[in-house]
Amino acid sequence: MSKACEMTASTATRIVGLGSYAPPRVMTNDDLGEMVDTSDEWIVSRTGIRERRFAADAEATSDMATEAARRAMSDAGVGPEDIDLLVIATITPDMAFPSTACLTQAKLGLRKVCSFDLEAACSGFLYALDVADALLRTRDHRLALVIGAEKLSSIMDWEDRSTCVLFGDGAGAAVLATGDREGGELLGFFSEADGSNPSLLCQPGGGSAQPTTENSLRSRQHFLKMNGKEIFKVAVRLMERAARELLEKHGLTPTDLACVIPHQANARIVESLALRLELPIDRFFCNLDRYGNTSAASIPIALNEARDEWDFGNGDHVLMVAFGAGLTWASGLLRWTK
Ligand code: ACO
Repeated sequence: MSKACEMTASTATRIVGLGSYAPPRVMTNDDLGEMVDTSDEWIVSRTGIRERRFAADAEATSDMATEAARRAMSDAGVGPEDIDLLVIATITPDMAFPSTACLTQAKLGLRKVCSFDLEAACSGFLYALDVADALLRTRDHRLALVIGAEKLSSIMDWEDRSTCVLFGDGAGAAVLATGDREGGELLGFFSEADGSNPSLLCQPGGGSAQPTTENSLRSRQHFLKMNGKEIFKVAVRLMERAARELLEKHGLTPTDLACVIPHQANARIVESLALRLELPIDRFFCNLDRYGNTSAASIPIALNEARDEWDFGNGDHVLMVAFGAGLTWASGLLRWTK
């Protein structure tokens, strides 16, 4: 093997373990119909969502992250003492600070390793994988835990039927390792952002721009706000861009993909993306009918289930592609090795 090949093999980062956690409490569309003016027919036809999971009142984002991480570490055959880095993608941290990663580090019993949150909304898990991959390659780290975890039920406005039916809670985790092991080799990432129109999708209250006051609470600024129609249009266009840019860089076309793991926001967004990429819809893994949109948790939960249900073959290319508040959009390319 040439020196260059040796370098590539030894510095490649792989996903060597996956795990996910969905809280046991199931909320069907009919359950929501008892809380807001909506129907199963409307929600299924506009979104494809049939049910979602909601965390218990006392269950925080770090609790779900901890459970998903335990399952991923067990899948990878590693323990808490082996982890060198922890990154958590979330827009629903336990509290403003300390970070959900620090709280999760303690719950998992990790060593005093570098632990931080990363916020890129629904693109967060892909941004976090990208950053963790870079840190593994450049620092003296061997194993990283990357988690996407959300308790979106904590920021939903139950007086806004256009948003409260879309989201769910959950967590997904990946163990990354350098060196030659079975798993999903991280071939590369593409990520961009455009912050020029933040009000398209935001939680305006509770930060330094609009600290929590009686007034901000009364005007419901602490809840998620979204312009669904505009988001729909840009989501499809920008997810196509993220997919094509990354594939092109790696000399691939959409038809080379064994599986696409799209952000699980809306079945119609996934169908539009499939049309634009000229790929049959059965190449896209979807579980949004069962979980709704879990933001940063959506891709790792879907990747975990796709790996188990679709049984990726040696050399299979898997593309993950996401879009979220910011706006942010990103993609990540894996090659499965067995
Ligand atoms: N139940 C019944 N009727 C509803 C509901 C509901 N839950 N919500 C809205 N409606 C009504 C509206 O009031 C409106 O009624 P009107 O015509 O009398 O005014 C009608 O349904 C149509 O509303 P639209 O907003 O035009 O519905 P649309 O077909 O655009 O679907 C949806 C709305 C599902 C939100 C869609 O725009 C969408 O999916 N957008 C993308 C949202 C998304 O994916 N966001 C997340 C991406 S980023 C991230 O994940 C953080």
